[in-house]
Amino acid sequence: MDKKLEEASLTVGKVAKRCGVKVSTLHFYEEKGLIRSWRNQGNQRRYKAEVLRRVSVIKAAKKMGVSLQEIKQAFASLPNNRTPDSADWEKLASSWRESLNARIHYLENLRDHLSGCIGCGCLSLKRCPLYNKDDELSAEGVGPVILEKKAIEPA
Ligand code: FES
Repeated sequence: MDKKLEEASLTVGKVAKRCGVKVSTLHFYEEKGLIRSWRNQGNQRRYKAEVLRRVSVIKAAKKMGVSLQEIKQAFASLPNNRTPDSADWEKLASSWRESLNARIHYLENLRDHLSGCIGCGCLSLKRCPLYNKDDELSAEGVGPVILEKKAIEPA
């Protein structure tokens, strides 16, 4: 084992601590093919520093409701034989931009319209009859129909 590589590599504990995740989570991400490690002479897992970015992007994306499957698809655009550079990450970012913008737009709508009638059928707010008389919106969809409609309106 290349001594320099061994020294530059990170233990699973260090990665877990720096990223704020459990060791078991790293094992899970590895099982799912989202991150990779290798084994040193002591058969211990070792990671390149770039794994910190991958795990951090996974955490951030999951907070935005991006599924592990979507993350895996996006990570497939990253090179496996070298540390991804900013051009690689830009490529990934642009593939995600549209879906992230849609999520941001939806969250903004939720933030801006949660105090009003969301068209869910509860008719529990004073203004519900104004926006959803006798739950007429149930004919148009399920769940928070008003929020869903606003989500597809251009931002
Ligand atoms: S908030 Fe539920 S129908 Fe208005």
